[in-house]
Amino acid sequence: MLPADHHDGPWDAVFVPPGTKERLLGTALLVLRHGRALGTLSGPPHGLIVLSGPPGTGKTTLCQGLAQAAATAVARRGATTFVEIDPHAFPSEMLGESQRAVRRLFAETLPELAARRPHTVVLVDEVEALAVRRSTASFQTNPVDVHRATDAVLAGLDTLRAECPHLVLLATTNFPAAVDEAVLSRADLVLALELPGPDVLARIVRSSLAELATLWPALRPLAADTALHGKLAARCAGFDGRRARKAILAAVAQRPDLAEDPSRLSDVDLYAAVSA
Ligand SMILES: Nc1ncnc2c1ncn2[C@@H]1O[C@H](COP(=O)(O)OP(=O)(O)O)[C@@H](O)[C@H]1O
Ligand SMILES: [Mg+2]
Repeated sequence: MLPADHHDGPWDAVFVPPGTKERLLGTALLVLRHGRALGTLSGPPHGLIVLSGPPGTGKTTLCQGLAQAAATAVARRGATTFVEIDPHAFPSEMLGESQRAVRRLFAETLPELAARRPHTVVLVDEVEALAVRRSTASFQTNPVDVHRATDAVLAGLDTLRAECPHLVLLATTNFPAAVDEAVLSRADLVLALELPGPDVLARIVRSSLAELATLWPALRPLAADTALHGKLAARCAGFDGRRARKAILAAVAQRPDLAEDPSRLSDVDLYAAVSA
Protein backbone atom coordinates (compact mmCIF):
# COMPACT_ATOMS: atom_id res chain seq x y z
CA MET A 1 0.00 0.00 0.00
CA LEU A 2 1.26 3.45 -0.96
CA PRO A 3 2.06 6.14 -0.02
CA ALA A 4 4.42 4.56 2.51
CA ASP A 5 6.72 6.55 4.77
CA HIS A 6 9.87 4.66 3.92
CA HIS A 7 9.29 4.89 0.18
CA ASP A 8 10.34 8.48 -0.61
CA GLY A 9 13.95 7.69 -1.51
CA PRO A 10 13.77 6.36 -5.09
CA TRP A 11 12.10 9.38 -6.72
CA ASP A 12 14.79 11.73 -5.44
CA ALA A 13 17.68 9.30 -5.92
CA VAL A 14 17.50 9.20 -9.74
CA PHE A 15 18.72 12.26 -11.63
CA VAL A 16 17.02 12.74 -14.99
CA PRO A 17 16.78 15.65 -17.46
CA PRO A 18 14.50 18.52 -16.39
CA GLY A 19 10.83 17.90 -17.12
CA THR A 20 11.14 14.11 -17.17
CA LYS A 21 9.60 13.49 -13.75
CA GLU A 22 6.83 16.01 -14.47
CA ARG A 23 5.88 14.12 -17.65
CA LEU A 24 5.94 10.77 -15.86
CA LEU A 25 3.87 12.03 -12.96
CA GLY A 26 1.48 13.89 -15.26
CA THR A 27 0.85 10.81 -17.41
CA ALA A 28 0.26 8.61 -14.35
CA LEU A 29 -2.00 11.12 -12.59
CA LEU A 30 -4.18 11.74 -15.63
CA VAL A 31 -5.02 8.03 -15.76
CA LEU A 32 -5.35 7.52 -12.00
CA ARG A 33 -7.66 10.52 -11.63
CA HIS A 34 -9.56 10.60 -14.93
CA GLY A 35 -9.01 7.19 -16.54
CA ARG A 36 -12.69 6.27 -16.34
CA ALA A 37 -13.87 9.54 -17.90
CA LEU A 38 -11.21 9.42 -20.62
CA GLY A 39 -12.44 5.96 -21.62
CA THR A 40 -15.14 7.74 -23.65
CA LEU A 41 -12.57 9.39 -25.97
CA SER A 42 -12.00 8.08 -29.48
CA GLY A 43 -8.35 7.58 -28.56
CA PRO A 44 -8.44 6.73 -24.86
CA PRO A 45 -5.20 6.30 -22.88
CA HIS A 46 -3.96 2.77 -22.23
CA GLY A 47 -2.49 3.70 -18.88
CA LEU A 48 0.80 2.21 -20.08
CA ILE A 49 4.15 3.93 -19.51
CA VAL A 50 7.31 2.29 -20.91
CA LEU A 51 10.79 3.17 -19.66
CA SER A 52 13.61 1.94 -21.86
CA GLY A 53 17.37 2.26 -21.61
CA PRO A 54 20.59 0.39 -20.86
CA PRO A 55 20.84 -1.58 -17.60
CA GLY A 56 21.65 0.52 -14.57
CA THR A 57 20.10 3.77 -15.83
CA GLY A 58 17.54 3.97 -13.04
CA LYS A 59 14.44 2.55 -14.78
CA THR A 60 13.27 0.29 -11.96
CA THR A 61 14.11 2.87 -9.29
CA LEU A 62 12.27 5.62 -11.19
CA CYS A 63 9.15 3.44 -11.53
CA GLN A 64 9.15 2.68 -7.82
CA GLY A 65 9.58 6.39 -7.14
CA LEU A 66 6.81 7.29 -9.57
CA ALA A 67 4.43 4.91 -7.83
CA GLN A 68 5.08 6.62 -4.51
CA ALA A 69 4.93 10.14 -5.98
CA ALA A 70 1.63 9.41 -7.77
CA ALA A 71 0.20 7.71 -4.66
CA THR A 72 1.13 10.75 -2.59
CA ALA A 73 -0.55 13.08 -5.08
CA VAL A 74 -3.85 11.16 -4.98
CA ALA A 75 -3.66 10.16 -1.29
CA ARG A 76 -6.48 12.54 -0.36
CA ARG A 77 -8.83 10.39 -2.46
CA GLY A 78 -7.63 7.05 -1.09
CA ALA A 79 -4.72 4.66 -0.96
CA THR A 80 -2.83 3.08 -3.85
CA THR A 81 -1.99 -0.57 -4.36
CA PHE A 82 1.47 -1.03 -5.91
CA VAL A 83 2.11 -4.39 -7.59
CA GLU A 84 5.54 -5.46 -8.86
CA ILE A 85 5.57 -8.31 -11.37
CA ASP A 86 8.67 -10.32 -12.21
CA PRO A 87 8.21 -11.60 -15.78
CA HIS A 88 11.13 -13.98 -15.34
CA ALA A 89 8.99 -15.90 -12.86
CA PHE A 90 6.62 -16.96 -15.64
CA PRO A 91 7.12 -20.51 -16.90
CA SER A 92 8.35 -20.56 -20.49
CA GLU A 93 9.32 -24.17 -21.14
CA MET A 94 5.89 -25.69 -21.19
CA LEU A 95 3.89 -25.01 -24.31
CA GLY A 96 0.95 -22.74 -23.62
CA GLU A 97 1.82 -22.45 -19.95
CA SER A 98 3.10 -18.87 -19.96
CA GLN A 99 0.27 -17.79 -22.25
CA ARG A 100 -2.22 -19.05 -19.70
CA ALA A 101 -0.30 -17.45 -16.84
CA VAL A 102 -0.13 -14.08 -18.62
CA ARG A 103 -3.82 -14.21 -19.49
CA ARG A 104 -4.72 -15.00 -15.89
CA LEU A 105 -2.54 -12.13 -14.69
CA PHE A 106 -4.24 -9.50 -16.86
CA ALA A 107 -7.79 -10.88 -16.85
CA GLU A 108 -8.06 -12.03 -13.23
CA THR A 109 -5.26 -11.17 -10.83
CA LEU A 110 -4.78 -7.51 -11.71
CA PRO A 111 -8.49 -6.62 -11.94
CA GLU A 112 -9.03 -8.33 -8.57
CA LEU A 113 -6.19 -6.37 -7.00
CA ALA A 114 -7.41 -3.16 -8.64
CA ALA A 115 -10.85 -3.62 -7.08
CA ARG A 116 -9.42 -3.45 -3.56
CA ARG A 117 -8.30 0.18 -3.43
CA PRO A 118 -9.22 3.37 -5.32
CA HIS A 119 -5.85 3.50 -7.11
CA THR A 120 -3.56 0.85 -8.57
CA VAL A 121 -0.08 1.05 -10.09
CA VAL A 122 1.49 -2.09 -11.59
CA LEU A 123 5.16 -2.45 -12.51
CA VAL A 124 6.16 -5.10 -15.05
CA ASP A 125 9.95 -4.98 -14.79
CA GLU A 126 11.90 -6.11 -17.88
CA VAL A 127 8.77 -6.61 -19.92
CA GLU A 128 10.72 -8.00 -22.88
CA ALA A 129 10.67 -11.31 -21.03
CA LEU A 130 6.91 -11.39 -21.63
CA ALA A 131 6.38 -9.38 -24.79
CA VAL A 132 9.04 -10.52 -27.23
CA ARG A 133 8.75 -8.74 -30.55
CA ARG A 134 7.13 -11.21 -32.88
CA SER A 135 8.77 -9.94 -36.05
CA THR A 136 12.30 -10.64 -34.80
CA ALA A 137 11.64 -13.68 -32.65
CA SER A 138 12.30 -16.69 -34.83
CA PHE A 139 10.39 -19.86 -34.34
CA GLN A 140 13.62 -21.85 -34.28
CA THR A 141 15.25 -19.93 -31.46
CA ASN A 142 12.12 -18.95 -29.56
CA PRO A 143 9.50 -21.42 -28.51
CA VAL A 144 6.09 -20.84 -30.02
CA ASP A 145 5.06 -20.20 -26.47
CA VAL A 146 6.97 -16.92 -26.49
CA HIS A 147 4.85 -15.63 -29.37
CA ARG A 148 1.75 -16.76 -27.60
CA ALA A 149 2.85 -14.94 -24.48
CA THR A 150 3.20 -11.74 -26.52
CA ASP A 151 -0.29 -12.24 -27.93
CA ALA A 152 -1.53 -12.78 -24.42
CA VAL A 153 0.13 -9.55 -23.26
CA LEU A 154 -1.57 -7.61 -26.08
CA ALA A 155 -4.95 -9.12 -25.40
CA GLY A 156 -4.37 -8.62 -21.69
CA LEU A 157 -3.57 -4.93 -22.09
CA ASP A 158 -6.82 -4.39 -23.95
CA THR A 159 -8.84 -6.35 -21.39
CA LEU A 160 -7.20 -4.44 -18.58
CA ARG A 161 -7.94 -1.09 -20.21
CA ALA A 162 -11.59 -2.00 -20.59
CA GLU A 163 -11.92 -3.36 -17.04
CA CYS A 164 -9.65 -0.96 -15.17
CA PRO A 165 -9.34 2.29 -17.15
CA HIS A 166 -7.83 4.03 -14.12
CA LEU A 167 -5.02 1.48 -13.56
CA VAL A 168 -1.48 2.62 -14.37
CA LEU A 169 0.85 0.00 -15.85
CA LEU A 170 4.57 0.77 -15.79
CA ALA A 171 6.89 -1.36 -17.88
CA THR A 172 10.68 -1.26 -18.13
CA THR A 173 12.90 -2.76 -20.79
CA ASN A 174 16.64 -3.04 -21.32
CA PHE A 175 16.02 -3.97 -24.98
CA PRO A 176 13.30 -1.83 -26.56
CA ALA A 177 14.11 -3.50 -29.90
CA ALA A 178 12.95 -6.79 -28.40
CA VAL A 179 9.56 -5.50 -27.26
CA ASP A 180 6.64 -6.00 -29.60
CA GLU A 181 5.73 -2.88 -31.63
CA ALA A 182 2.07 -3.40 -30.88
CA VAL A 183 2.83 -3.21 -27.16
CA LEU A 184 4.97 -0.09 -27.57
CA SER A 185 2.33 1.60 -29.72
CA ARG A 186 -0.18 1.16 -26.90
CA ALA A 187 2.02 3.14 -24.54
CA ASP A 188 0.86 6.63 -23.54
CA LEU A 189 4.49 7.57 -22.87
CA VAL A 190 7.73 5.88 -23.95
CA LEU A 191 10.69 7.34 -22.14
CA ALA A 192 14.24 6.52 -23.20
CA LEU A 193 16.77 6.85 -20.39
CA GLU A 194 20.40 7.36 -21.38
CA LEU A 195 23.74 6.66 -19.79
CA PRO A 196 24.58 9.50 -17.39
CA GLY A 197 26.73 12.36 -18.69
CA PRO A 198 29.45 14.09 -16.61
CA ASP A 199 27.01 16.33 -14.71
CA VAL A 200 24.71 13.49 -13.69
CA LEU A 201 27.72 11.32 -12.76
CA ALA A 202 28.98 14.14 -10.51
CA ARG A 203 25.55 14.34 -8.84
CA ILE A 204 25.54 10.56 -8.35
CA VAL A 205 29.02 10.72 -6.77
CA ARG A 206 27.90 13.59 -4.53
CA SER A 207 24.69 11.90 -3.40
CA SER A 208 26.46 8.57 -2.81
CA LEU A 209 29.04 10.33 -0.62
CA ALA A 210 26.33 12.35 1.12
CA GLU A 211 24.52 9.15 2.02
CA LEU A 212 27.72 7.65 3.45
CA ALA A 213 28.29 10.91 5.35
CA THR A 214 24.92 10.56 7.07
CA LEU A 215 26.22 7.25 8.44
CA TRP A 216 29.79 8.47 9.09
CA PRO A 217 29.78 12.25 9.66
CA ALA A 218 33.60 12.37 9.30
CA LEU A 219 32.96 11.98 5.55
CA ARG A 220 31.10 15.30 5.29
CA PRO A 221 34.10 17.16 3.82
CA LEU A 222 34.34 14.59 1.01
CA ALA A 223 30.60 14.90 0.40
CA ALA A 224 30.91 18.70 0.14
CA ASP A 225 33.95 18.76 -2.17
CA THR A 226 32.36 19.54 -5.55
CA ALA A 227 35.73 19.78 -7.32
CA LEU A 228 36.48 16.22 -6.19
CA HIS A 229 33.05 15.05 -7.44
CA GLY A 230 33.76 16.51 -10.89
CA LYS A 231 37.14 14.79 -11.11
CA LEU A 232 35.74 11.45 -9.94
CA ALA A 233 32.87 11.81 -12.43
CA ALA A 234 35.37 12.36 -15.26
CA ARG A 235 37.01 9.06 -14.37
CA CYS A 236 33.58 7.37 -14.34
CA ALA A 237 32.89 8.40 -17.96
CA GLY A 238 30.87 5.65 -19.66
CA PHE A 239 29.64 4.16 -16.37
CA ASP A 240 25.92 3.59 -15.91
CA GLY A 241 24.32 5.02 -12.78
CA ARG A 242 24.42 1.74 -10.90
CA ARG A 243 28.11 1.23 -11.61
CA ALA A 244 28.90 4.78 -10.47
CA ARG A 245 27.07 4.27 -7.16
CA LYS A 246 28.76 0.91 -6.70
CA ALA A 247 32.21 2.40 -7.39
CA ILE A 248 31.78 4.81 -4.47
CA LEU A 249 30.65 1.98 -2.22
CA ALA A 250 33.52 -0.15 -3.45
CA ALA A 251 35.91 2.55 -2.23
CA VAL A 252 35.19 1.62 1.38
CA ALA A 253 35.52 -2.08 0.56
CA GLN A 254 39.04 -1.84 -0.81
CA ARG A 255 40.75 -2.70 2.46
CA PRO A 256 39.69 -4.36 5.72
CA ASP A 257 40.62 -1.26 7.76
CA LEU A 258 38.32 0.93 5.63
CA ALA A 259 35.51 -1.59 5.79
CA GLU A 260 35.96 -1.70 9.56
CA ASP A 261 35.88 2.10 9.83
CA PRO A 262 34.60 3.87 6.67
CA SER A 263 35.20 7.28 8.27
CA ARG A 264 38.86 6.83 7.26
CA LEU A 265 37.94 7.07 3.57
CA SER A 266 40.14 9.56 1.67
CA ASP A 267 40.09 11.13 -1.79
CA VAL A 268 43.01 8.86 -2.71
CA ASP A 269 40.85 5.81 -1.91
CA LEU A 270 38.03 7.23 -4.05
CA TYR A 271 40.30 7.83 -7.05
CA ALA A 272 41.65 4.30 -6.72
CA ALA A 273 38.13 2.83 -6.58
CA VAL A 274 36.78 4.59 -9.68
CA SER A 275 39.93 3.78 -11.66
CA ALA A 276 39.82 0.09 -10.78
N1 LIG B 1 20.44 8.78 -13.49
C1 LIG B 1 20.67 8.26 -12.27
N2 LIG B 1 20.78 9.08 -11.21
C2 LIG B 1 21.01 8.58 -9.97
N3 LIG B 1 21.14 7.29 -9.68
C3 LIG B 1 21.05 6.42 -10.70
C4 LIG B 1 20.81 6.86 -12.04
N4 LIG B 1 20.76 5.77 -12.83
C5 LIG B 1 20.94 4.71 -12.03
N5 LIG B 1 21.11 5.08 -10.75
C6 LIG B 1 21.28 4.20 -9.59
O1 LIG B 1 21.68 2.92 -10.06
C7 LIG B 1 21.01 1.89 -9.33
C8 LIG B 1 20.34 0.93 -10.25
O2 LIG B 1 19.21 1.51 -10.83
P1 LIG B 1 18.02 0.64 -11.43
O3 LIG B 1 16.77 1.43 -11.25
O4 LIG B 1 18.06 -0.73 -10.87
O5 LIG B 1 18.43 0.60 -12.98
P2 LIG B 1 17.77 -0.24 -14.16
O6 LIG B 1 16.43 -0.70 -13.70
O7 LIG B 1 17.71 0.75 -15.28
O8 LIG B 1 18.72 -1.35 -14.45
C9 LIG B 1 20.08 2.57 -8.35
O9 LIG B 1 20.71 2.59 -7.09
C10 LIG B 1 19.96 3.98 -8.88
O10 LIG B 1 19.79 4.88 -7.82
MG1 LIG C 1 15.79 -2.71 -13.54
